Amino acid sequence: MPHPAEIRIVSRRFGNPEARTLAGYLADEGYQGLEKALAMTPEQIVEEMKASGLRGRGGAGFPTGMKWSFVPKQSARPKYILCNADESEPGTCKDRLVMEWDPFSIIEGMTIAARAIGSRQGYIFIRGEYRYLFAIVDRALEEAYAAGYLGKNIRGSGMDFFLYTHSGAGAYECGEESALMESLEGKRGLPRLKPPFPAIVGLYGGPTVINNVETLATVPHILRGGGAWYAAYGPPKNGGTRLFCLSGHINQPGVYELPLGFPLERMLQEVGGGILEGKPLKAIVPGGSSTPILTAAETAGLNMDYDSVARLGTFLGSGGVVVLARDTCMVKFALRIIRFYRHESCGWCVPCREGTHWLAQAIGRFHAGQGRPADIKLFEDVASNILGRTFCPLGDAAAMPILAIVRKFRAEFEAHAATAACPAPAALEPQSA
Ligand SMILES: Cc1cc2nc3c(=O)[nH]c(=O)nc-3n(C[C@H](O)[C@H](O)[C@H](O)COP(=O)(O)O)c2cc1C
Repeated sequence: MPHPAEIRIVSRRFGNPEARTLAGYLADEGYQGLEKALAMTPEQIVEEMKASGLRGRGGAGFPTGMKWSFVPKQSARPKYILCNADESEPGTCKDRLVMEWDPFSIIEGMTIAARAIGSRQGYIFIRGEYRYLFAIVDRALEEAYAAGYLGKNIRGSGMDFFLYTHSGAGAYECGEESALMESLEGKRGLPRLKPPFPAIVGLYGGPTVINNVETLATVPHILRGGGAWYAAYGPPKNGGTRLFCLSGHINQPGVYELPLGFPLERMLQEVGGGILEGKPLKAIVPGGSSTPILTAAETAGLNMDYDSVARLGTFLGSGGVVVLARDTCMVKFALRIIRFYRHESCGWCVPCREGTHWLAQAIGRFHAGQGRPADIKLFEDVASNILGRTFCPLGDAAAMPILAIVRKFRAEFEAHAATAACPAPAALEPQSA
């Protein structure tokens, strides 16, 4: 059952198995967005997207209409549309629901994007661990081809668009757009140096738009309802709704579609049902494990939109809101995060490969009671030496949360060093960064 505070746009078909079939999708306003798009010029589609205020739901929050407008009109090489369905950021579990319940919305969104940039070919790059979703998405593709919604001369419009699924192999790094393209090309999933950006030189050297699943699944709704209609749900420059993945120490974890700018306090209390066991809030991770943590005090009065969260020096990221109750050990939390990034570092850049390994070992020793007060400064130094010094933002994704945790919860680190043990973290107040 949807929560009453939810505005279900991209999640409107969740829970309805009929919508996985073309007939069910069409019966529920499916393909109305494409119908409109086929009667529009590519420029008009891009303008509608810009008017919607839609910002990428994959992590960086880049305005989608603007991204599409960067693709050159003329190109000697084919242009591509890629759907990033690699969903691997800890705390994030929304794209799989879109694929599971509403695969046609992704196909329709990609077809509209293809029309906007003049592409004939696209790929849905699905996280390897999401193997069970291939059956659902591939069946939807088959039905779309059979009914003339994909392939040559789509619905008699003269437009051709061919779309395929492709499996990742379990590497977080392959969610990074340039590594994803390397992987699609059959190479090792290593990042490319940017610029050039994918809109100019992307897959097989052709101009490429790469968007997240939720971003693309939102596109048909925007075309159907209009950019201004969608934008009105959120504050200026933060159009619409988004899927928030609420997890951690919360009574009702889940994926909730809420308007951007929704108050965090209401998200936690009203939607999430409050903190587990009625404990006080200690901190939240606002947008997936790579985003710098916010202390409970910092979150006072916070509205969950890109700009409000950015004003606190962090990001709305992938929509993964992780809730931490008062007695969470922040040293252990830092260790959990850095172990993930050590495991997922692709090893291409030295600061990331060595830095994450070193931090994981040192924080591990520190948490086990073998730390010294001087280590705290070392953690900051090593993380600072990763930040901004790698080909792709995986290094930043590892360094930023560690820096924020160490700086905001320094007293907890000091207490670990002083007692050679894990003291009761609830007794230690967070510091300002
Ligand atoms: C290490 C790393 C992993 C990423 N993983 C994902 C992912 O799983 N899914 C995703 O949509 N974006 C991911 N991104 C962001 C993509 O590079 C890219 O910005 C995004 O797909 C663009 O889509 P959007 O504009 O619709 O958000 C990742 C970025 C980095 C640096």
